[in-house]
Amino acid sequence: MAKPAASIFSCPECGYSSGRWFGRCPGCGEFGTLVEETKPGPRSAGVAARPLLRLVDVEVEEAERIPTGVPELDRVLGGGLVPASLVLVGGEPGVGKSTLLLSALAAISNERRALLVTGEESVAQVKLRAARLGGAERVEILAETELETVCATLERERPEVCVIDSVQTLYAAELGSAPGSVAQVREAAARLLRVAKENRVAVFLVGHVTKDGSVAGPRVLEHLVDCVLQFEGDRYRAHRILRAAKNRFGSTNELGVFEMTGAGLVGVPDPSELFGRSEAGEIGAAVACALEGTRPIMLEIQALVAPTDLAMPRRVATGVDPKRLAMIVAVLARHADLPLGTADVFVNVAGGVRIDEPGADLAIALAIASASRGVPVKDGLAAFGELGLTGRLRGATQAERRVEECAKLGFATVLGPAGTPPPAKLALAEAETVREAVRIGLDAPQPEGE
Ligand SMILES: Nc1ncnc2c1ncn2[C@@H]1O[C@H](COP(=O)(O)OP(=O)(O)OP(=O)(O)O)[C@@H](O)[C@H]1O
Ligand SMILES: [Mg+2]
Repeated sequence: MAKPAASIFSCPECGYSSGRWFGRCPGCGEFGTLVEETKPGPRSAGVAARPLLRLVDVEVEEAERIPTGVPELDRVLGGGLVPASLVLVGGEPGVGKSTLLLSALAAISNERRALLVTGEESVAQVKLRAARLGGAERVEILAETELETVCATLERERPEVCVIDSVQTLYAAELGSAPGSVAQVREAAARLLRVAKENRVAVFLVGHVTKDGSVAGPRVLEHLVDCVLQFEGDRYRAHRILRAAKNRFGSTNELGVFEMTGAGLVGVPDPSELFGRSEAGEIGAAVACALEGTRPIMLEIQALVAPTDLAMPRRVATGVDPKRLAMIVAVLARHADLPLGTADVFVNVAGGVRIDEPGADLAIALAIASASRGVPVKDGLAAFGELGLTGRLRGATQAERRVEECAKLGFATVLGPAGTPPPAKLALAEAETVREAVRIGLDAPQPEGE
C-alpha cells in the first residue's frame, strides 16, 4: 500500500526541518515558528553516473563584471555584478529595495537587456517610480507571480540582468503551500538559480525580512545564492546602509551608504563627512575611526551614563554589539576606575551605522568615560584601537589608512595604540593602556588621587 504523502515541519527563521511539529524550534530556539510543508515526492530510480573533470581541464571565459551604475552597489558587490550570479537583497519593508534595484536596472538598460519581474507592484506603480527616478525607459517589465511563467520567460528572453521583486511573491502551483512559505521560497530560488546559470542571467532576488518572522525570511536561501546583501537603515531617517553578509566574489566587509531623496537613492561617497562630525565640547561624544572593509569611516559615538537603582544596570547599545559594550564597560570600570557599576550606560552610533570592528573600542570607551566624568573629549580628536581585557590597547589593522582619513577630515590629533606609525599631517597621541588613553583623551585634568 502506498504511504500517504507525509508532511515536514520547517522553521522559516533558521531553515530547520523535522518530521514532527515542535512548539519550540530545536534549531534556533524560537517559539511557534515551525510550519507544515508537504514533503517532495520520491526521486526517480536508475540515474546514471557522470564522468568527472579535472580542474585543469575546466575552461572559463573571464567574464567582465557588469557595472550597475550605482557606485555604492558596485563596491558592495566587489566591483560590479558578476554575470549569471544570483544576488539576494534583503531588507525590511519600505527601506528602499525596489528603488535601489530600479535605479541599477535603469543604468544597466543603457547597454544591456534588463528585466524587472514585479510580483508586488503593478506595472503602473513601477512606472510612477521610474518617472520619479528617471532614465528607466528601456527597462523591460513583467508583472507575474507564477514561477513557471517567470522561468519560461527568462529562458526565452535571456536578459543579462533580471530583478525579481520579490522572491516571496513567486508561486509554484504544484507545491500547494502559500506564496512566501519556506517551501515556495526555497523552490523559487532553486529553480531561478538553475535558469540563471543555464541562460547566463544575473538575478537580483528581493527578499523581505520581517521582524516577527511571519513571512518566510530569506534566511533559508542564504546558502543557495552567490551574494547576500542587506539593506538596512531607519525607515524614518534618510540614510540607508548596504552591506554584504555573504559574497562569493568579493569581500563581505564593504559598506555602501545612501541617502533617500525624492529622486531616489543617492550614494554618499564620503560617509565620514556625514557621520564623523561632533560638536566641540559636547560631553559623552567621541569620534571613532573605524574600518569597514577597505574603507575607513569616521563615526561619532555618543554615550550616556546615568545613575540607576537597578540591581543589574542597563547596558543599551545601538549600532554596537551588546556583548562588546558589556566588555568595554567592564574594562573601563576595572582598569580606568570609572564608577559604572551603579550606572546605566547607553551607547549610540551616529546615522544608524552598525560597527562590528574592534578598532572602534577605544572611541566607545572614550565616549563612556566622557559621559561618566562629565568632561568632554578633547576638541579635534579621533581615536582608534582595540581594548584588551587586561586594559592594554591592541594595535588595529591598517593604521595608516585610518590616520589618513582623520587627516582628510581635518582632525588635529589622533589617539591610537602605542606603535602606530607617526602620521605626516596631524599629531599622534599614543597610549599603552585604556587608563592612559582616557587621561590623554579627555579635556581636563584627572580628579585628585588618580
Ligand atoms: N516621493 C518620495 N520622496 C522621497 N522618498 C520617497 C518618495 N517616495 C518613496 N520614498 C521613499 O522610498 C521608500 C520606499 O522605497 P521602496 O518601495 O523602494 O522600498 P522597498 O524596500 O521596495 O519596500 P517594499 O518592502 O514595500 O517593497 C519609502 O520608505 C520612502 O522613504
Ligand atoms: Mg519593493
